[in-house]
Amino acid sequence: MVVHDEHGFDRDYWEERYSASGLAWSGNPNPVLVTDVTPLPPGRALDVGSGEGADAIWLAQHGWQVTGVDIATSALTKAKARAESLDPVAADRIDWRQRDVTEWSPSPRAFDLVSAQFMHLPEPARTTLFRSLAAAVAPGGTLLIVGHDASDVGRDSPHQGHLADLMFSVEDVLAAIAPEELHVEVAESRRRNPVPAPDSEFHHDVVVRASRATSI
Ligand SMILES: C[S@@+](CC[C@H](N)C(=O)[O-])C[C@H]1O[C@@H](n2cnc3c(N)ncnc32)[C@H](O)[C@@H]1O
Repeated sequence: MVVHDEHGFDRDYWEERYSASGLAWSGNPNPVLVTDVTPLPPGRALDVGSGEGADAIWLAQHGWQVTGVDIATSALTKAKARAESLDPVAADRIDWRQRDVTEWSPSPRAFDLVSAQFMHLPEPARTTLFRSLAAAVAPGGTLLIVGHDASDVGRDSPHQGHLADLMFSVEDVLAAIAPEELHVEVAESRRRNPVPAPDSEFHHDVVVRASRATSI
């Protein structure tokens, strides 16, 4: 069975999804963010597609000054309320902004950490976004891009057509960020942890971590 998407993952889709009661996601920070960012000294962080804010809140609790960007006002409202109820001190370190990243780019060299977790856009918007995120990394800073690996979407997958077009590979990310001349530290397809449910489509995450040399 081929399932074609009935929506375009546009703003209306995300607004409605986050308007439902309860959480759309686990409420926990993404495991790759925790493992790969824990060793870094805190500074200014940009979390693109911040959703319900679990990553932004975790970053703020670990000393980062965070900008959380999402297309959905309902996501940002939920994220802000969660941050304020969980940790008012950390909440003060987060600036929530409603932006459509297909129309907005972060300032170049402005962030010590730029994180995009499961930010899936169709081409050519994906390449444009990843390049602008790479450009936003400050000297000495880090880019972390994580997403569902396109290789999990096989030929027999129900997720073909537009949904499959949203997934990407390690090579897609490397090609997009190449002009920014970052030092690539990690570029791999990593088994998801915790292990997803057996009926889950996605078992691997693309993980690309890269840094910009400190200027001298
Ligand atoms: C799959 S969710 C991931 C949320 C969060 N990063 C996480 O890992 O739990 C993708 C997020 O990207 C946001 N998003 C989708 N398209 C966007 C766009 N064009 N500009 C900004 N945010 C967008 C959605 O509202 C949603 O919160």
